[in-house]
Amino acid sequence: MILVTGATGRVGFRLLEQLADAQASATAMVRVEAKAEDLPTGVGHVVATLDAPPPAEVLQTFERVFLLSPVHEGQAELEVSFVDALVAAGHGPHVVKVAVDGFQEPDCEVRFMRNHRLIAAHLDATGLPVTYLAPNSFMENLLSSADTIRNQGTIFAPAGDGRIGFVAAGDVAAVAARALTGIGEQDGIHVLTGPEALSYTDVADRISAVFARQVGYEDVPPDRARETMLADGLPAWQADGVIELFEWIRNGGCDTVTDEVRQTTGEDARPIEDWLSEMRGVFLGPGDVSPPRF
Ligand SMILES: NC(=O)c1ccc[n+]([C@@H]2O[C@H](COP(=O)([O-])OP(=O)(O)OC[C@H]3O[C@@H](n4cnc5c(N)ncnc54)[C@H](OP(=O)(O)O)[C@@H]3O)[C@@H](O)[C@H]2O)c1
Repeated sequence: MILVTGATGRVGFRLLEQLADAQASATAMVRVEAKAEDLPTGVGHVVATLDAPPPAEVLQTFERVFLLSPVHEGQAELEVSFVDALVAAGHGPHVVKVAVDGFQEPDCEVRFMRNHRLIAAHLDATGLPVTYLAPNSFMENLLSSADTIRNQGTIFAPAGDGRIGFVAAGDVAAVAARALTGIGEQDGIHVLTGPEALSYTDVADRISAVFARQVGYEDVPPDRARETMLADGLPAWQADGVIELFEWIRNGGCDTVTDEVRQTTGEDARPIEDWLSEMRGVFLGPGDVSPPRF
């Protein structure tokens, strides 16, 4: 039996769909009972959180665990407490952990990557078998630009000419499904990317082509981007992390492209045009999906 944490999120939900399609036995961990209503058909659930995990006798029923938590200041503590609960249960499950590309690079001081590095150090010390999935930025991050694309024909970001190997969350889920069902690579670090590294100018060009409307990119000074994020209500810790991330991007930290999605799943990683076409309704629909970020 597989336990899926982060089950209602962008990766976790798609993972549950893929496990259900593969007829693998999976249980979703949800924070409140009501969240279970929207899970894919046939998926079981347990109500718990990473910092208030299921009891040991329940954890012992899962030989494989998909470990994912949201980005926030307490992320390392959250995952570490859950890992401790797994160790205390004593049955030694295989953990498939979602980290982020860059966490494995000791000189990467972006706080989001550093948090995953702290979790990984703790996890490695437990001796549990671990598969690390280290995705590049998700294509889904572009959804936060949907309103400015629609209303101003512009993507705003402090990214300079930095390029990003954007990967679809569904591809991350597909690799996770293989790792959790014993098909494909079982350990080590897997850097997951889309098929190419794109600057925001490239992204704007692709959006223009797919939606047949002119979209441009405006490089925003980091200070202005930070002010806008704070005004939008993002916590300072997170806004500062986004600024660090974009500095990493400007310096080429996210321009990696790998073949891991195809190697693991046998399918090519999803091109951005394909993903944009699926999201047409969100980008071109009535609007107010999300506030402009910068
Ligand atoms: N965004 C990117 O570009 C990117 C790139 C590479 C790696 N990553 C990594 O991917 C992860 C985020 O993945 P995602 O985008 O799929 O996340 P997401 O959509 O934000 O979903 C987060 C999930 O975690 C659950 N959750 C929140 N607090 C929890 C708690 N205390 N205990 C248990 N579960 C909790 C949420 O449940 P509720 O529905 O109840 O809130 C939700 O299911 C992060 O670790 C990030 O570093 C992201």
